[in-house]
Amino acid sequence: MISRRQFLHALGACAGIGTGITYYTFEIEPTWLEIVRRPLPIRRLPPALIGRTLVHLSDLHVCPLVSDEYLFDTFRRIIELRPDIVVFTGDLMSWHRGWRDHVAAVYQRAPRGRLATVATLGNHDYGTGWGEPQIASAVSDVVRACGITVLRNEMLDAGGLQIVGLDDLWANRFDPTTAFRRVDARRAAIALSHNPDTVDLPVWGNFDGWILAGHTHGGQCKPPFLPPPILPVKNRRYTAGEFQLAGDRRLYISRGVGNALPVRFNARPEVTIFDLTAV
Ligand SMILES: [Fe+2]
Repeated sequence: MISRRQFLHALGACAGIGTGITYYTFEIEPTWLEIVRRPLPIRRLPPALIGRTLVHLSDLHVCPLVSDEYLFDTFRRIIELRPDIVVFTGDLMSWHRGWRDHVAAVYQRAPRGRLATVATLGNHDYGTGWGEPQIASAVSDVVRACGITVLRNEMLDAGGLQIVGLDDLWANRFDPTTAFRRVDARRAAIALSHNPDTVDLPVWGNFDGWILAGHTHGGQCKPPFLPPPILPVKNRRYTAGEFQLAGDRRLYISRGVGNALPVRFNARPEVTIFDLTAV
């Protein structure tokens, strides 16, 4: 039997731990960025691109819930690395009053790649219920005016690497047929697709490159050693990190930089620096 005093001590300790975890989840981890560095082996990579860097940012969710100071500090850290290619894989913002000026102010200060700076769209770029294409068009215009190429089912050639930018699945704008129309399968290519569920669709043909994605925020709040209770994908394997796929394709899911709700636990925000290597 424990005494009343012991019970009250235990209760106090539990309350203290709970308060600490709550503070950590709301105040520490959402802006505790991890810069992940890893190789990105690419088939048929032109020799001139071997050793170059590609920085992958996802899910910035520019809005009042994500601190501008945190985003600018993140940008500063990346700019210091002088990346060759910078890609943003969707959820560039979350809709909010005054979003145009706010998005412009943030993306004007975003890091640029020496060869290319590219963005694709995510569901949050389509406004309420992901059903407002006029907002997606306006976001694209604002970001393009900041000097960033927005690919909506299009391809950009960055020094011999074909970057295929797919539009968003949940907004019913994912159109790989159009996106791959100009892609030469005999040359190096990677794809950007916000929602990892797109990799399981029977649409990839003979594409054998990397698909870079975001959307999941790594589960955002994840109990240790267990899968996250909330994950916005059909394929529950797709939390974060690297996955081998059929057709020799590979998937990398970033945990993202920002969030739609300002909480994270055991899923720190991430920027990924890929060193391009030949296969
Ligand atoms: Fe997101």
